[in-house]
Amino acid sequence: MTKPIYIRDVSKDDLSALVNIEDRTTGVSRLEYWKKRMELSEAIRPHWTSLVAEMDNRVVGFIFGRAGELEFGLPGTVAWIEVIGVDPAYRHKGVAAELMDRFTSSANDHGIRTVFTLVSKDNPEMEKFFAKSGFTQGEMLHFKKEVAATA
Ligand SMILES: CC(C)(COP(=O)(O)OP(=O)(O)OC[C@H]1O[C@@H](n2cnc3c(N)ncnc32)[C@H](O)[C@@H]1OP(=O)(O)O)[C@@H](O)C(=O)NCCC(=O)NCCS
Repeated sequence: MTKPIYIRDVSKDDLSALVNIEDRTTGVSRLEYWKKRMELSEAIRPHWTSLVAEMDNRVVGFIFGRAGELEFGLPGTVAWIEVIGVDPAYRHKGVAAELMDRFTSSANDHGIRTVFTLVSKDNPEMEKFFAKSGFTQGEMLHFKKEVAATA
């Protein structure tokens, strides 16, 4: 039988679980980054944009995003997914799909009809995951400029 997945808003107590999942995914441990990210979530991000997933009574995944109004010449408000991650031991069990479902349905409940994200060209795994989740390539162009160090 498939184990239940419980989705809820992130809380301060989730800090070490989030650091651990990222560490086990990327090999990089960023305690200070996650502290700041959670402060941002508490202070200015709508609560529904920062979610964790629990299985077996432990945090096994997260999604962090935000809502953006009249940005980049876009009309109205859109939601952005900034980062999503699932504990490697809990992948392919529908955890990310549940997180995505809650995020998109909450966006919809708040009158938001479009969800944006950015995916690196060098990350075919994420490209496939977002395609499976119903995302298609958008019409915006991504621009960048390298700024030389002055120091
Ligand atoms: C991509 C990721 C979020 C998927 O999580 P998951 O819980 O295993 O995904 P799900 O089980 O909910 O799968 C949802 C759908 O995406 C597809 N999918 C999941 N992982 C995939 C992969 N690696 N490649 C292709 N498709 C994938 C599944 O097949 C599924 O589609 P289906 O329902 O048609 O079968 C997870 O592999 C991950 O965290 N990767 C690392 C992401 C990262 O680097 N984050 C930043 C730092 S933590």
